Amino acid sequence: MNTPFVVAIDGPTASGKGTLASKIAARLGFDYMDTGALYRGVAKTALDQGLDTTNEDEAIQAAQSMCQNYDLSLQDDPRIRTEAVSKCASEVAAIPQVRALLLALQKDFAKRNVAGVVIEGRDIGTVICPDAPVKLFIDASAEIRAERRYKQLKDKGLEADYDAILEQLHIRDGRDSGRKTAPTRAAEDAIILDTSTMSADEVLQKSLQIITDHYTS
Ligand code: DC
Repeated sequence: MNTPFVVAIDGPTASGKGTLASKIAARLGFDYMDTGALYRGVAKTALDQGLDTTNEDEAIQAAQSMCQNYDLSLQDDPRIRTEAVSKCASEVAAIPQVRALLLALQKDFAKRNVAGVVIEGRDIGTVICPDAPVKLFIDASAEIRAERRYKQLKDKGLEADYDAILEQLHIRDGRDSGRKTAPTRAAEDAIILDTSTMSADEVLQKSLQIITDHYTS
């Protein structure tokens, strides 16, 4: 069986890595997995079932239930993108047993008999696919990321408060990169792209160039 060419993409909240990853996958005809959707799925399950995720046993129960019902299309469900789910997802992602339950789904995705996969999250280059031939870490300052999120919401005609967005972003960054298990971190062999002064298209072109260089070498 052939193993796929793996493009591992990590980065903090609102770094634009999700949009970038799905565009790369579409361009190259690779399969795409948003691993944040798994943690969001656990959070949504817990909220739906009235489980208290500050209690580890209940968070684990939510993760087990999510795994039983998991389908890749979850990542397209807008109901996992609410503020309540985002907050809870960041909390459940800090629980080692929850992370352990979600490992197989992610590792198996990167081993299927397809040409290539783009897999995106926080620990892809460090834990999920440490042997990936291409690892990108997409970063930008908190202020720029908050500004982009603010603009996205405004463009959709939604309420947005820049200061509140920035504050939430700092809290989530702190939790995701400060936790003991698999914190947000660039792998030693990752290429770090600071996108603060780049347009989305520039980031895409640069990433495609890096991937092509590795694919053909
Ligand atoms: O990328 P996102 O915002 O959709 O991720 C939701 C939460 O899940 C976020 O707080 C970080 C966490 N996460 C993680 O810990 N590990 C991953 N591989 C992906 C996401």
